[in-house]
This record gives sequence, structure tokens and C-alpha cells, in this order.
Amino acid sequence: MNFMKRMLIVKNLCKEEILKNIDFEINEGEMVAIMGPSGSGKSTLLYQISGMDQASSGEIWLDGRNICGLSEKELAKIRLESCGFVFQQMNMLENLSILQNIVLPADHLEKGKKKRQEHRKRALELMKRFSIDGLEERSITQVSGGQLQRACICRSLMNAPKILFADEQTGALHQNASKEVMDAFLRANESGTTILLVTHDNKVASQCDRILYLLDGELKGTLDLGSFARTDDKAREQYTNQWLEKMGW
Ligand SMILES: Nc1ncnc2c1ncn2[C@@H]1O[C@H](COP(=O)(O)OP(=O)(O)OP(=O)(O)O)[C@@H](O)[C@H]1O
Ligand SMILES: [Mg+2]
Repeated sequence: MNFMKRMLIVKNLCKEEILKNIDFEINEGEMVAIMGPSGSGKSTLLYQISGMDQASSGEIWLDGRNICGLSEKELAKIRLESCGFVFQQMNMLENLSILQNIVLPADHLEKGKKKRQEHRKRALELMKRFSIDGLEERSITQVSGGQLQRACICRSLMNAPKILFADEQTGALHQNASKEVMDAFLRANESGTTILLVTHDNKVASQCDRILYLLDGELKGTLDLGSFARTDDKAREQYTNQWLEKMGW
């Protein structure tokens, strides 16, 4: 039997004039895309539901807990323990190596020499899994855009998050690098991580289980792609394109 656990429940979420009465739910293990024109409120939505900013009203249940009204300290703890982030603005630190950047959130959560060794080991495994092993000692300016994004994904997975939030992870990338990053997301999702990602890329969205379409801060529609098999790439993409066109994309 397949028990669906709700990883995220958003009820009647409002944020100033930007977000209006947003309602949706995400099940454990789902990979969901948020699409919509520039300025429609996608990033703002991610900030509210990941507890990086306070909503004006509404409810946000993250893994069974209402995060609205929690203190900044409690939110920081939830973010560190349960959430992974791949955001454009959350760049890696320039004075640290790729490996040092990746272990950072884990070293922050669990202190001590023994723990640090474990983190290093886990980071190396992740780097291997996402095919960026060998780049450990490079600085962030010495790797390609696609490699850096995959390093960000490794960092976001260090604390085994229940849910991963990503904003425009493929935006600045060429097609090949974008595919590598998307493959990394699909792999993380296949091993059980729930993912919510913002994208402008139809192809990326077509590979998700569901697409939420935002327009002027309102949720205008949802496309359920979960019924397609992973092998049905072309059909998914075509179906997605038709739907997005209907939404005014
Ligand atoms: N801190 C803020 N204070 C006031 N308004 C803001 C703030 N941040 C964003 N906005 C406004 O809220 C609206 C939604 O912005 P948001 O960044 O969420 O859009 P977006 O859908 O992520 O766009 P893009 O695709 O360009 O990243 C925009 O009109 C923006 O100018
Ligand atoms: Mg944005």
C-alpha cells in the first residue's frame, strides 16, 4: 500500500501585495516545478515556505509542523536540519575550496573532529555521485557553471534534507550543463528527496511530477505529469508545452 505523507501543506498563503491566497500540497518524494513569468512571485513563494521570510497570513506546514510564527532561531534550526537550498543568491564562499564549501552546513550542524571526518567522507561520496570528484581543492572560480551548480546541490544534500528548494538552478547554464544539473536533481529525487524547484525551462518542468503555474502572485493552474513514465520524455514535453501555452506562457 502506498501511504502518501504530506511533506508540505500551504494554506491561504498571502505575502503583502505579492502573493494572494496560495494553496497547494506536496507529498513526500514528489518533485514539483513552479513556473510563471518574471515578477509573478516564484522566489517570494520559496522564501515564505522555506521559512526564510515571514508570510503576511496563512499556514505553512513543513513535515507536519506549522512554521508560521516560529522564532528566527527555531526556523534556522528547521532550515539546517530539514531543508536544502540551491538558490542563485546563496553563492559559495570564494576563499574556501569546493570541498570546504560543501561540508560547511554539516560542520555547522554537528561539531567535533570525528564528525568533521564523517562530513568529509560524505561530501566526497556526494561529489562522486554527481561526477565532480577530483575538483575538491579547486576554488569556485576554477570550475564550470554546471560543476559549480552540482557542487551547490552536493552542499544542499549534506544534511540529508527532507525537502530541497531550488531557484533557477539551470537559468544561467548552457544546455549540456543544464542537463547535468537536472540529472543530479532527478538522482536526488530518486533516492527519496522531495524537491520543489523554480524554473523557466519547459524541459526541466516536464521532467517533474507536477507543475504549479503562478501569475501575478496567484496560483493559476496545476499540471499533473506524474502519470507519465520517465521514458516518455517527448510526450511529457509536448504535453507540458501545450499546457504552458494555454496558461499564457
Ligand atoms: N523584498 C521585496 N519587497 C517588495 N517587493 C518585492 C520584494 N522582493 C520582490 N518583490 C516584488 O515582488 C514581485 C515578485 O517577485 P519575485 O522575485 O518573487 O518574482 P519571480 O517570479 O521570482 O521573478 P523572476 O522570474 O524574475 O525571478 C515583484 O514585483 C518584485 O518586484
Ligand atoms: Mg525569482
